[in-house]
Amino acid sequence: MYTVIDGKKLAAEMRAEIKLSAEAFKKRVGREVGLAVVLAGENPASQVYVRNKIKACEETGIKSYAYYLPESVSQNQLEELIKELAEDNNIDGILVQLPLPTHIDAKRALELIPTCKDVDGFSAENAGKLSQNSDCLVACTPNGVMKALERYKVPVKGKKAVVLGRSDIVGKPMAMLLLNADATVTICHSKTQNLKEECLKADILVAAIGKAKFVTADMVKDGATVIDVGINRDENGKLCGDVDFENVKDKCSYITPVPGGIGPMTITMLMYNTVIAASRR
Ligand code: GUN
Repeated sequence: MYTVIDGKKLAAEMRAEIKLSAEAFKKRVGREVGLAVVLAGENPASQVYVRNKIKACEETGIKSYAYYLPESVSQNQLEELIKELAEDNNIDGILVQLPLPTHIDAKRALELIPTCKDVDGFSAENAGKLSQNSDCLVACTPNGVMKALERYKVPVKGKKAVVLGRSDIVGKPMAMLLLNADATVTICHSKTQNLKEECLKADILVAAIGKAKFVTADMVKDGATVIDVGINRDENGKLCGDVDFENVKDKCSYITPVPGGIGPMTITMLMYNTVIAASRR
């Protein structure tokens, strides 16, 4: 029998806790925790994400400062805004929604976010600290995965974890967090040989590759925990993950659904990071 990890419920519980922390901050410091959300252009998925992030701020008692820039925004205009937000004492976290318009050098713009306000955990300093197992702001999706594993008491220490995907945003920090939690970690990617055999060794399999229903039942060991980070559309346009949930679930001890699994946890971890950033500043 498998257990479905209910990310929606977990996220609601965590948001209630975060709200208490945000209220305590306001009492102590005399102002609200503040998150700046910057969206450039009109990418429909980004618009949905940003809307949900602002909604989550309202739910957790965090003041959001939204900046909507046109697709045509110049590198200079974006950089000037980030510099302004970096200096603003009411802003504890700066979130620049990705992807940015193609004419923008995203790396150069993001480097202007001070490490202490980098609530996405994307900066070289935060990523480097994570790899050294030091205190830092951790990328939200992998951090949400770890919270889900913790809350469901999934054993990690000494277990074999396989991460599918090596992105800077999910795959790499995910592998680091699992390693820091004493798992034996393998990172697989598009050039990996014998991918199925690698996956079959996993006690914990994290799929973060962005391919609909890529992980099939023949790739999963009996009793494995399968975490699905993907958000894709299937052939009928229906939301689905990187895992073929219906066929994989019976092999698992724990599995996350899409939607309702890691997705709600990601935005919750952004709120969590923002309150941490506020308390540390
Ligand atoms: N675009 C897709 N995922 C993310 C994320 O976690 N943070 C930001 N800033 N942009 C994204």
